[in-house]
Amino acid sequence: MIDEHEYGYFTEADSADVVVARNRNAKDERLKQVMEVITRKLHEAVKEIEPTQEEWFAAIMFLTQTGQICNDWRQEYILLSDVLGVSMLVDAINNRKPSGASESTVLGPFHVADAPELPMGSNICLDQKGEPMFVHGRILDTESKPIAGAKIDVWQANDEGFYDVQQQGIQPEFNLRGVFRTDADGRYWFRGVKPKYYPIPDDGPVGKLLGALGRHPYRPAHLHYIVEAEGFDPLTTHIFDPDDPYINSDAVFGVKESLLAEFRKVEDAEAAAKVGIEAPFYDVEFDFVLSRKKG
Ligand code: BEZ
Ligand code: FE
Repeated sequence: MIDEHEYGYFTEADSADVVVARNRNAKDERLKQVMEVITRKLHEAVKEIEPTQEEWFAAIMFLTQTGQICNDWRQEYILLSDVLGVSMLVDAINNRKPSGASESTVLGPFHVADAPELPMGSNICLDQKGEPMFVHGRILDTESKPIAGAKIDVWQANDEGFYDVQQQGIQPEFNLRGVFRTDADGRYWFRGVKPKYYPIPDDGPVGKLLGALGRHPYRPAHLHYIVEAEGFDPLTTHIFDPDDPYINSDAVFGVKESLLAEFRKVEDAEAAAKVGIEAPFYDVEFDFVLSRKKG
């Protein structure tokens, strides 16, 4: 029988030590370590903030409402992690790349696992809305050699800033999504529409928090990519429009300088016809460099 008083009674001064000691028989060492760090930092924060009972209850209600709004399509805790910068921090810790490899960024909640594999050059825009865009580039290794047969999973919001899954019954299924495989030269190309900035879902507690903090909910225009090839680390990333009004204030901190692409406006009808598009269109060229798997 463990003596409950072995480590002393709870006092304001010893609060974290007393709780940490209580977890000493945890079966999982990692859980014990994680809970010790969280307990110590949380107690430190509470001691610095000195919340009133009302403030603490407001915090509990915020977390309660964050859980209550979650469903199969809505994950408010991921949004919370995103706007706190924690998603990007976890991403950075888990994706330290060798020099020369493309940088990663957040996955976001709108990826769909079973998007169709399409012939190279396909138009992923199924509703003919928006300004035409031609996207192309190469998948390379860190020695600049092309990677043939790499799988490229792309998805983007439409001209109004919505993903197909947010507008079921309005946008066609799999609108603005596609999976492609690079050719022998590591090349990929497809057609889409110029993306627009959009708000992260902001009708819940996280949106309310952003408003109270004087922050907007917008993400700058971007295209999502997951690039995978055998023997290489998978890359989850975006490319961004550097001219977007929110490029320096992404609500989820996802922008990295190396991920800024050029959205070049092309007026020439002949150039447009060559890529199966009507002029004017936006030409976006972007190469990705994959790091080799270790071991
Ligand atoms: C997105 O880019 O799809 C996204 C990322 C984080 C939160 C909401 C949306
Ligand atoms: Fe997105």
